[in-house]
Amino acid sequence: MAKEKIQAIRGMCDMLPAEAAYWEMFESSAKALAKEYGYMQIRTPILEQTRLFKRGIGEVTDIVEKEMYSFVDSLNGDELTLRPENTASVVRACIEHNLLYDAPRRLWYTGPMFRHERPQRGRYRQFHQFGMEALGFKGPDVDVEQLLLLRRLWKKLGIGDVKLELNCLGQIEDRKQHREELIKYFENHRNLLDEEAQRRLYLNPLRILDTKNPDMQELVEKAPKLIDYLSDSSRNFLEQLEEKLQAQSVDYVINPRLVRGLDYYNLTVYEWTTDKLGAQSTICGGGRYDPLIEMLGGRATPACGFAMGIERVIELMKECGVKLPYKECDVYVIWDETSHNQAVAFAERLRDLGISTIVHAGSAKMANQMKRADASGANYAAIICGNEVSQHIVSIKPLRESLADYGDQVSQPEELAVGYLQAQLSEIRAK
Ligand code: HAM
Repeated sequence: MAKEKIQAIRGMCDMLPAEAAYWEMFESSAKALAKEYGYMQIRTPILEQTRLFKRGIGEVTDIVEKEMYSFVDSLNGDELTLRPENTASVVRACIEHNLLYDAPRRLWYTGPMFRHERPQRGRYRQFHQFGMEALGFKGPDVDVEQLLLLRRLWKKLGIGDVKLELNCLGQIEDRKQHREELIKYFENHRNLLDEEAQRRLYLNPLRILDTKNPDMQELVEKAPKLIDYLSDSSRNFLEQLEEKLQAQSVDYVINPRLVRGLDYYNLTVYEWTTDKLGAQSTICGGGRYDPLIEMLGGRATPACGFAMGIERVIELMKECGVKLPYKECDVYVIWDETSHNQAVAFAERLRDLGISTIVHAGSAKMANQMKRADASGANYAAIICGNEVSQHIVSIKPLRESLADYGDQVSQPEELAVGYLQAQLSEIRAK
């Protein structure tokens, strides 16, 4: 009897080879940009102490209350959580390794995050983020630096139609008065509050504004806006930020409803949104989190950063018509019974030059080899067969219609064939 097939966990996706080109393009573009802006990579563990996220993100938030993969390690009783985001972990690492003692830091990271949300298009339980954190900068110059970097990334990836929504959450003191007004407002509409909102009313009323309950949207829409309670210095910060964005011609809209779902933010918050992805329309979110480092036991240090959902960005690239063909190699080498060793040696010469090459493996039937060559997505087949073998002649066959010389097969001595492929491929790459 056939064994039962084991499936992936709901909401946790496999990245299949057909998608690889998109992930590679995203990663190489994002990493190159990070370098251009002077950001260094940091990698932190996927598993952290649960209390890091409770304290960092906030106990009364959707992520901590409803979405964390938390468990007790049965071997030693540690309370652990699969990271739902990476800002808290990066700050923990900076404090633990004293990275901020002498200089500010510009850092980037990428990797899987875990949230137990209801899976749908663009929303997964394991998803991937690319993010950046600038620690030790008061802003707003560095806030703008990150927004410029993001604008550049969208352009590099071929993404259009993204909107930057911006808000200012002020400082903790500004929020006290807003909190009181918010409580009063919701108390006056208690009958419209769902159970969760009732519970959050005195614990963390700002987080009522994150509600996804459609019946409460109108109520939330009319709630007092934080932006109306900003102190002069917070208002001044926002003005400076706007002035700097305008100086670089960055388009944005102020969205006074934007509060983000995590407790660590102050002053700047923003989201890049699109209407091309349905309900999960935010591709990137971030802002300033000056209180976090102290909250996690470090010396008060201003900081700001962002993270984007890579799955959503890739989906948007496709929606915007970015086409990246499936390609296993540049050259697929075909041989016959007499020429396998020659084919392998030829492939090694190409690889010496950095040309990605597959030598056909398995059945040596010509039709089968040609079919595989075509399916591999290679630009060229290099055919070493028949009478030409003894003379070390290689036939180069272009496989893609897009190649200018499509259909023209050329036969050349091995030495020249190597140079010919190198020249053709570097021309294709340059296009
Ligand atoms: P976040 O808004 O929770 O912020 O997540 C950032 C991005 O991750 C979202 O805009 C979205 O694109 C993606 N994302 C979130 N949840 C999911 C999911 N379940 N499935 C797919 N994609 C998802 C943060 O995580 C902050 N740490 C950002 C930050 C960095 N703020 C300052 N520094």
